[in-house]
Amino acid sequence: MTVVLLLCIITSQLTVVLSSAGNFWTYKGSLGADHWHLDYPHCGGIRQSPIDLQTRDVVVDQTYLSPLVFSGYDRVSNLFFRLENNGHTVQVGLNDKTMMISGGGLGATFVAEQFHFHWGAVDERGSEHSVNGRHFPMEMHIVHFNKKYGNFSSSVGKVDGLAVLGFFFEIGRFNEHFQEIIDHFGEIQFKNQHININSIPMIDLMPARLTNYYRYHGSLTTPPCFESVTWTIFNETIEIAEEQLVEFRTTIFENDKSDGGVFMDISDDYRPVQCMFRRRLYASHPSLKYDMASPRENGNDGVSNQPTRLLFSMFLVCIWCILPFFSF
Ligand SMILES: *[C@@H]1O[C@H](CO)[C@@H](O)[C@H](O)[C@H]1NC(C)=O
Ligand SMILES: *[C@@H]1O[C@H](CO)[C@@H](O)[C@H](O)[C@H]1NC(C)=O
Ligand SMILES: [Zn+2]
Repeated sequence: MTVVLLLCIITSQLTVVLSSAGNFWTYKGSLGADHWHLDYPHCGGIRQSPIDLQTRDVVVDQTYLSPLVFSGYDRVSNLFFRLENNGHTVQVGLNDKTMMISGGGLGATFVAEQFHFHWGAVDERGSEHSVNGRHFPMEMHIVHFNKKYGNFSSSVGKVDGLAVLGFFFEIGRFNEHFQEIIDHFGEIQFKNQHININSIPMIDLMPARLTNYYRYHGSLTTPPCFESVTWTIFNETIEIAEEQLVEFRTTIFENDKSDGGVFMDISDDYRPVQCMFRRRLYASHPSLKYDMASPRENGNDGVSNQPTRLLFSMFLVCIWCILPFFSF
């Protein structure tokens, strides 16, 4: 009896230690996304992120989803950016809390805390969100906390605590603004390395047109997966050159510098899309609502096998969404 009790206490303490270390999850293998909910119950919730943005089912609301108001995004901050490899991503900490967003149906003022990236090992994947099943090679998240809660840690667990802006990347022109960050990757190759770099006006890192976006309520896409995020995903993408993406893929490792042996790159640090359940997806402009089955303007994109692909992915989504009701 005592032994059992002791064992229970020890294992529960151990779990607390492991969980609070915050690093015992990965994107691959036995600690991968399918298992997060075991240690982090919120990850098994019904308002999780990312999701597939299905343009056919969008609810357009141009009045409510007015353009966001950005303040401080066009200025160079007096403080450095804190560039960090946290073992899961490249993250840039925004030290002075002077950049804020409001309007756009957010219902409050949110302060920018950090931004980070999710990217794939190849061009066909990497983004967390997708549009009608299509993924992009990279996605950037600018994470904001609700000003009324004072800081990030007080906001992260509140239902209206966070607002994240999501941007898709597409392969294209060389992007000189992101290069200022990439230039320092050599100094943050390994987990827990960080350096201060000159700040960049955030507006330079974002697309020009920010009026067209999707909106839904979801979660952090990493453990503890709190369902505290008002998501805004922009329609206009950011261009980046293939060679710049290759820097993300090949120079950033998930290992400590002291780890011997093989270093693993962080590529494919994205969570698979989650079920929509009873949520609605909103959009700020009528052009964002369209039927995915309608033929593309620029033809020659394997249109012939699209219906088959569509049916197959609908089948997969159904299975995937029903599954949680049967386990446990
Ligand atoms: C965040 O704010 C709370 C409440 O005001 C405070 O107790 C806490 O120490 C703050 N945390 C940080 C990291 O500043
Ligand atoms: C942006 O919207 C247009 C339609 O207005 C669509 O063709 C395009 O794929 C969208 N891009 C993204 C990233 O959703
Ligand atoms: Zn993210």
